[in-house]
Order: sequence, then structure tokens, then C-alpha cells
Amino acid sequence: MGPGTTVAVANQKGGVGKTTVAVNLAAGMARRGRRVLLVDLDIQGSATSILVPNAVEHPIDVARCLLEKVSLADAVVPTTQPGLDLAPAGERMALVDLHLASVLGRERVLERALRDARLKPYDLVVLDTAPYLGLLTLNAIVASHHVLVPVSCEYLPMLGLKLLRDTLENVREQVGTDTTVLGYVLTMVDRRERITEEVEALLRQTFGERMFPHGIRVNTHHKASPSHHQTIFDYEGKGGKGREDFELLCDELERRLEAAGRRLPPRMPSISPAPIEPS
Ligand SMILES: Nc1ncnc2c1ncn2[C@@H]1O[C@H](COP(=O)(O)OP(=O)(O)O)[C@@H](O)[C@H]1O
Ligand SMILES: [Mg+2]
Repeated sequence: MGPGTTVAVANQKGGVGKTTVAVNLAAGMARRGRRVLLVDLDIQGSATSILVPNAVEHPIDVARCLLEKVSLADAVVPTTQPGLDLAPAGERMALVDLHLASVLGRERVLERALRDARLKPYDLVVLDTAPYLGLLTLNAIVASHHVLVPVSCEYLPMLGLKLLRDTLENVREQVGTDTTVLGYVLTMVDRRERITEEVEALLRQTFGERMFPHGIRVNTHHKASPSHHQTIFDYEGKGGKGREDFELLCDELERRLEAAGRRLPPRMPSISPAPIEPS
């Protein structure tokens, strides 16, 4: 027995906006009153250093959970965003792939680590993944109900996306999971660049309805907020365009999860961090 819905943010290409999407989507959903757990599965630990920079000192991290078969519930640390917790990456993350290679049932280690009654209160688990299709990322796909694929507006995104799609297909057939692609999200959208239109047209032609209707616009705040250890909701004021983009992304995520028969508790109005009452 584990958490509600698990969504992996994946694309084996680096620098396409996975971590930015994972962190701000998780924060946006938590602001709507959902209990969210972000699991950092990237060897670089970017999401961890954005949300809880001192979590590298946490004795139990995701790497340890996967290497020593410890429950992910033991790795959970709170973030400054109410409703959002983090399972931090950890320094030994780079060893995980090598270690998993010799483990029996190696594609399902993360799935097992998530199967814990203590994780049941989470409505949504978001997995931030590494920029390659190794065992760590395969574990993320196997452990997820859905995959969300950020695609940046650059030349030739199709080759990588085809590889990702084939991998997913293989995982479904060979490991026997029913993970589906929830959608493709355009990132770093710059309407002044012709390439944006070209990439968007190509993706819509290939993926049709699977494309999210709104992308994430290019925005220097997405570059700046991580160094302040803030989500876009903390960094931008009300009406900021990064916030706006992520509210629309959350709306669409909710719509698609609902259409896929995934239950989320009713949405609450956007909350500003409330003081925690002593119990
Ligand atoms: N919409 C955006 N506009 C501007 N910069 C962005 C945007 N999304 C991401 N970035 C920046 O691009 C870089 C790569 O993004 P990141 O989310 O870390 O990608 P990934 O996790 O796929 O490697 C980071 O410096 C990030 O701050
Ligand atoms: Mg990343």
C-alpha cells in the first residue's frame, strides 16, 4: 500500500526543464491543498539543492533507499512549501545504476521502496529523473502511473523522444507495467523564435492531443529562482508569468489525471503559507 498517483517527469535529454517542471509542478499542486512528495532521482540532485539545500546531510536519502532497500518514507524531509515534502537524492546516487544491475527484480526496486503505508497520505508523488535512460530512470518509469515529458524548443527533439517512447513500450511489454505518457510539455517557449513554431507544429503533428495546450515560456526567473532556493511561486509576485504558466500546467495535469481515473482530493484555493499551529 503506497501513495495515490505517481508521475515521473522524464526525458533523457539534459537541460530540457525536467527539474524546473518537477519542482514547480509539485509546489503548485501542494499550494492547491494536495499532499505532494517530490522524489529526487537525479545524480546531480538539483531538485534537492533547490528545495532543501542542507538535505544532503540527511542520513537517509533516496540513494540509500535504493541501495539498501530502505523505505522511501524514511528519507522524507519537509520543504518550506506547506504540503510539499522531499525525498532528497544524496551523494551515492551515482552508484545506484551500477548496483541495481546485479539486483534481482532490478526494475522494481523503487516501486518497492514506495510501497509503504506511511506514504499513503500523499495524493501525488512527482519523480524528477536523470538525463539518461539507465536503470534509475527505468525504475522511475516502472514505479509511475504516468510519465510527463518536458520538451524544449530546440532543433531535432524527435530522435530522443522516439527513443523514450520505444523504451516505454519495452518497459510495458517486458516488465509488464501499464505506465502511460500523460503528455508532452513544451518548455523554454519563445514566441519570437521561429524554431518554437516549427517544433510545436512537429510535436502536435506527431503527438496530437498528447501535447499539453500550454507550454512553459522562457523566463529568466526560472534560471534565477533555484539559486535563491525558491520555487517560482515564492520567487515571482502575484501575476508573474512563470507562476501563470505553472498554474495552467497544474490545471491540465489535474484534468488529465481525472480523465485517467486518478483521484485527487478536491482542490483548495491557492494558499499562502499558513503558520503551523503547535499541537
Ligand atoms: N522556461 C525556462 N526559461 C528559462 N530558463 C529555464 C526554463 N526552464 C528551465 N530553465 C533553465 O534551464 C536550465 C535547465 O533546466 P532544468 O530544469 O535543470 O533541466 P533538466 O532537469 O532537464 O536538466 C536550468 O538552468 C533552468 O533554470
Ligand atoms: Mg534535472
